[in-house]
Order: sequence, then structure tokens, then C-alpha cells
Amino acid sequence: MVIDQVKIGQVIGGMRSLKCLVTDISYLDPQEGIRYRGYTLPEVFAKLPKPPGAEMPYVEGLLFLLLTGDVPTESEVGDIVDEFKKRRVLPSHVYDVIDAFPKDASPMAVFSAAILSMQGDSSFARLYREGINKMEYWDPTFEDTMDLLAKLPEVASYIYSRLYKDGKRTQGDPNLDMGANFAHMMGIPKPYDDVSRLNFIIHADHESGNVSAHTGHLVGSALSDVYLSISAMLNGLAGPLHGLANQEVLRWLQDLVEQMKGKVPTEEEMKQFVWDTLNSGQVIPGFGHAVLRKTDPRYSLQREFCQTHMKDDLLFKYTDMLYKVVPPILTEQGKAKNPWPNVDAQSGIIHWHYGIKEYPFYTVLFGIGRSIGITANLIWDRALGYAIERPKSLSTAMLEEMAKNAK
Ligand SMILES: CC(C)(COP(=O)(O)OP(=O)(O)OC[C@H]1O[C@@H](n2cnc3c(N)ncnc32)[C@H](O)[C@@H]1OP(=O)(O)O)[C@@H](O)C(=O)NCCC(=O)NCCS
Repeated sequence: MVIDQVKIGQVIGGMRSLKCLVTDISYLDPQEGIRYRGYTLPEVFAKLPKPPGAEMPYVEGLLFLLLTGDVPTESEVGDIVDEFKKRRVLPSHVYDVIDAFPKDASPMAVFSAAILSMQGDSSFARLYREGINKMEYWDPTFEDTMDLLAKLPEVASYIYSRLYKDGKRTQGDPNLDMGANFAHMMGIPKPYDDVSRLNFIIHADHESGNVSAHTGHLVGSALSDVYLSISAMLNGLAGPLHGLANQEVLRWLQDLVEQMKGKVPTEEEMKQFVWDTLNSGQVIPGFGHAVLRKTDPRYSLQREFCQTHMKDDLLFKYTDMLYKVVPPILTEQGKAKNPWPNVDAQSGIIHWHYGIKEYPFYTVLFGIGRSIGITANLIWDRALGYAIERPKSLSTAMLEEMAKNAK
């Protein structure tokens, strides 16, 4: 049955909107935003169990939801929290790999390499060599996923310590869930535990066609294990049109703070700054989206958090004013198909507020979250026996010939 037709514009235009991937884990509706297993993000945040006293749900509960499609009970979440605690400790060579990078290395390059350095521990790779039945591929993929996800906060917090602080190795707290333990290892007090949970959950998945998710799936389709696939997807996430955009937002805003000498601009001044950026041939960072056609619900959830916890933050005031002035300007300019803000317009300012002032690290935080969705997909890819990817190429001359014949 034919489900789509391929246009030349799509072949040369990044395969935009081509219906050629399948996942049951998340779906991006252009009008409504992302749904995880059928639930909108506000529903996910309302339904998932929360640690005692927390505003945000357990990240571990999201993994359960993405894998099974069911909202977990407290005790089901507790099982994953316990599993992660058992699997957190890093092999000592991971510290050596991180230490081997120069201090000015990109934290995403270090993150990707640190994950790759653990590939020797892959259960899937070992069992594949031993001749495992393909019906069982999903099982060691699940084991690798649990091992890797449990370790990501440890890896990331050590990268932060090594590149930007004193290089101290902080021990994880065995009493804490993933989000709270990450905040603990970063040395940031409450409510940063809730910021971590919020951040990891909203970034987990955005269906399969974006660069990081597609890369994870593509590499995994060659039966490369979870370590190889996640390391690869992080390299795509590191690009300026993908995960790096949140640091662009902050850089751009701080330019304005400098110009305004720290005072809140008037709406007119803000409009002028936006037009100046557009007229100099740059995009407005944090606005627009390849698929979405409304305000990103991930933006709205973060905005709600900011309104509760950091209403008086200078950068939040700037961001809130941008929410008012940018969409009409992008609409008037008439180029962007979506004038509304995306996830990246808010996330950087929250981390900045809580003391993480090193922009390049923000994509690492995104990467921890994104690993949850991609590994959930990889487990199902192996369970369903999805094929190795191999689309077909044509030459430009062939496309020109086709276009000529069509006329
Ligand atoms: C996200 C993004 C890469 C999507 O790109 P896309 O799918 O090509 O977007 P569109 O189809 O709407 O682009 C059509 C035109 O509008 C422009 N446009 C899109 N978003 C824009 C923005 N925020 N500011 C200015 N111009 C924008 C594009 O550059 C393109 O211009 P061109 O025809 O001169 O090349 C794009 O909106 C963008 O660059 N946004 C800013 C960066 C950002 O926030 N990235 C994070 C995404 S989660």
C-alpha cells in the first residue's frame, strides 16, 4: 500500500516530512506537539509518579512508560530506581578517558567518547559474538540500556567537574533517584533536582526523524550495540541546528543584556534588537521548528517552572518579552513556517539561573534525556526485528531527467 510520494524537493531538502520511519514510542503532531505513547506532555507530567515532595516525576517512570506504553505504579518505578542505583558506578578507565581530553575540549565530544569507551561492557556485543538467537536480541539491548542510562549522570557530572571546576569525583548518593542524584553530583541544591527531572523528561524523544533519534536508529540498525548507537547520536545532537541551539539563545540574549547595560528593554527596544538580528542575516535562536506549528509544549512547561521559581530572573524577563514580540515579527517577515518558540528558548536560562554558566554543557544535559527515548526505541527495534537501513541514491542528472520527463 502506498503511504507517501517522494518529491525531488524532499530528496534534496533533507527528506523533510517523508513518511519512511516507524515508532510507537512518540509522535510529533504539528499542532499539538510531542506525545509520548499517546500522552501529551502535560498528561505525562500529571500521570507519572513523583518522588516524595517533588514537583516533577521520576525520570525512571518515563523510561517505564516509553518501553511499555503503561503508566507505572510507584513500586514499578521503584524497581527501576533500584536497578539504576546498582548499575551507576563507572569503570575507572572512563575517568582516564575524560581526563585525557584537553580542558578546552567540547563536552559533547568528551561525552560521546566516554560512552564509547564503555562499549567493551556491552552484553549485546558479547552475546552476538557467542551466537545469540535473533529473537532474543532485545534482551541484552535492554541490559545495555539499563547499564548505560544509569551511568550517564555520573559521566556527565564528572565531565563538568573536570572541564569547568576542580576535577573532583563526587560520589553518587544511593538514596536518590536519577534526577536528584544528578543535582547532588553537580552540587546544586533544590529545586535543581526538579529541573533535572523536567529537563531529562522533556528532551527524551521527539519521534524518529530528528538528527539524534534517526542517527541512533540508523547505527543500531547495523546491529551496533547501544554504546555505539548512543555515542553516534550524540555527535549529531552536538550540531548547531540541533541540540546546540539552546546555547545560541543564551549567547544572543546576553549580547542584548550587555547592550542594555543590564536593564530590561522596552518592547520597542526588544523589537529593534530582533529586527537587527534578522536584517544581519541571522535566525532568531529558539524560534521556529521543522515540524511543529505552534508554541512547543516543552517551552510552555519550562516557562511555567520559571514563573514559579525564577519570576524575577533578568534573563527570564527578556525571554518572556521575546515570547510577545518575536512571533509577530517572524510572521511579518514571512519566511519561517513556524514563528513560535521551541524548547531551546527556555532551557539555557534555567541552567544559567542555577549556576551552570558554561553554555557548551547544556547540550550534554539534553543528551542525557535524549538517550532515554533512543534506547527505548533501540530495544523495540531489536524486539521487532527491524531491518538495516539502506535508502537508495540517485544522481543529480537522473533527477533532472525525471523532472524533464515529467514536464
Ligand atoms: C529549527 C529550524 C532549523 C527549522 O528549519 P526549517 O525547517 O528549515 O524552517 P522553515 O521551513 O520555517 O524555514 C523557512 C525559512 O525561514 C527561516 N527561519 C526559520 N526559523 C527562523 C528563525 N527562528 N529566525 C529567522 N528565520 C527563520 C529559515 O532560515 C528559512 O529561511 P531561508 O528560506 O532563507 O533558508 C529553524 O526554524 C531555525 O533555524 N530556528 C532557529 C534555531 C533553533 O531554534 N533551533 C532549535 C530547533 S529545536
